[in-house]
This record gives sequence, C-alpha cells and structure tokens, in this order.
Amino acid sequence: MPSFKGDEATNYDERIERLVPGYELLHQLTFAQCQVQLEADAKVLVVGAGTGKEVIALAQANPNMHFVAQDISEDMLAIAQQHFDQAGIANRVQIHCGDLNALEGQFDAALCLLVMHFVPDDGSKAKLLQAIRNQLVSGAWLWIADLMKPETPFERDAQFQVCQQLGLTDIGVERTLAAFEREFFALDRMRFAELLEHNGFGVAHCYFKALSFTGFVVRCQ
Ligand SMILES: C[S@@+](CC[C@H](N)C(=O)[O-])C[C@H]1O[C@@H](n2cnc3c(N)ncnc32)[C@H](O)[C@@H]1O
Repeated sequence: MPSFKGDEATNYDERIERLVPGYELLHQLTFAQCQVQLEADAKVLVVGAGTGKEVIALAQANPNMHFVAQDISEDMLAIAQQHFDQAGIANRVQIHCGDLNALEGQFDAALCLLVMHFVPDDGSKAKLLQAIRNQLVSGAWLWIADLMKPETPFERDAQFQVCQQLGLTDIGVERTLAAFEREFFALDRMRFAELLEHNGFGVAHCYFKALSFTGFVVRCQ
C-alpha cells in the first residue's frame, strides 16, 4: 500500500484525480445517494477518510449530521483536520486514527471509498468488513468502492489511457502498474459479493463503474 505519509499525504488531493478516473463522479454519486437515503441527523462512519472529502461534502450539506472520520494514517487525518477547521464543521467530526473496534458503534451509515483494495484477501478484508458491520445499526447502508479485477483483457490498458489523459506521466504509469501488482488486492464481483454476504451484509448493488473502479451500496442485516 502507498504509505499515505509525508509527501504522499500532502500531494494526495491533486494526485488522486489522475489515478482514479471518475474520482469526482464517484464522490458525487455517493453523496447524492446519502442525501436521498440518510436522515438529516444521521451518524455516519467514514472508513479510510483520508483528507476528508466525503465528510466535508456531507457535513456542509447537512448541519445536523455527525461523523467519525477514521483512518490508519495520522498524516492524512492531520490534513483532514485542517480541512474540517477551514470548512467550519470540526465540532461535528470526531477524528479516529486506528482500530475501528475501538469505536462505540450505532452508526446509521458507513462509507469506505478506495480503501479495501489495499487490504489482502487473507482474512483481513473479512475482518475489516466485520469491524464495519459491528459499528452499524441493523439496516444501515454501506457505500464501498474499490479497484476490481479487470473484466476484459483490455480494461487496465484503457484505464491507463484515461489516466494519461488526466495528466499521469509515463513514469507515473509505470509506477502505478507496479503498485497494482504489489500493493492492491483487487477482487472480482463474485468474491466481493461473497465477502459482503459472509460478513453481515445483504446483496451488493453496483452504483458506480469507471473501468476497474467500482462502487457498491449494500445494506447490513
Ligand atoms: C485512496 S485513499 C482514499 C481516501 C478517501 N476515502 C477518498 O476517497 O479520497 C485510501 C485511504 O485509506 C486509508 N487506509 C488504508 N488501509 C486502511 C485500513 N485498513 N483502515 C482504514 N483506513 C485505511 C489510507 O491511509 C488512505 O487515507
């Protein structure tokens, strides 16, 4: 996994848009679904909150919502904290660095965008999903998006074409290709659905797909 520390945290916001085709749209579609589905005073858990994009959009639109922004990178959360202060929403956001199991639960919804693909499928993805499930009330929704295994032999190549159009350099392409091999643990749709269903969630519905980046919404049981 990238370290998400130091420069990798500082440069994150401008780097991510070149690496994830449709990054902005993924966030827009997730936000829109939360807007129509969540109560005005919902308590929302954002797993792998990074620099805080999901939290800021929802908090600015919903003055009575409360959030926990969780991550394992202190540096990403330090940037998120600055963004929350600037946006005037810090009083409604608890920042939590580390284990999800330390939280008190009873969340009405969770978001986990572009996080679980960094977690190996050796029991660790299942553990993460269980930890998220344990923090949610029954019937809560989870929005989760990951890099998936390519569905055609040319999907990855097409993805890098788009990344280059978005400004990724040749060296950037080479590094990202190597990172995909070493640092990402992409699943196919069947395994993704199976993991969700075995860890307390229902049927996953796809709501976003930009080449291999895929978003699902699923309700916990
Ligand atoms: C690609 S960023 C996504 C950030 C944000 N969700 C977004 O959409 O911009 C991935 C984030 O997940 C965090 N992360 C990686 N593994 C994690 C884990 N097991 N639990 C929580 N956060 C994790 C990283 O530190 C990083 O901040």
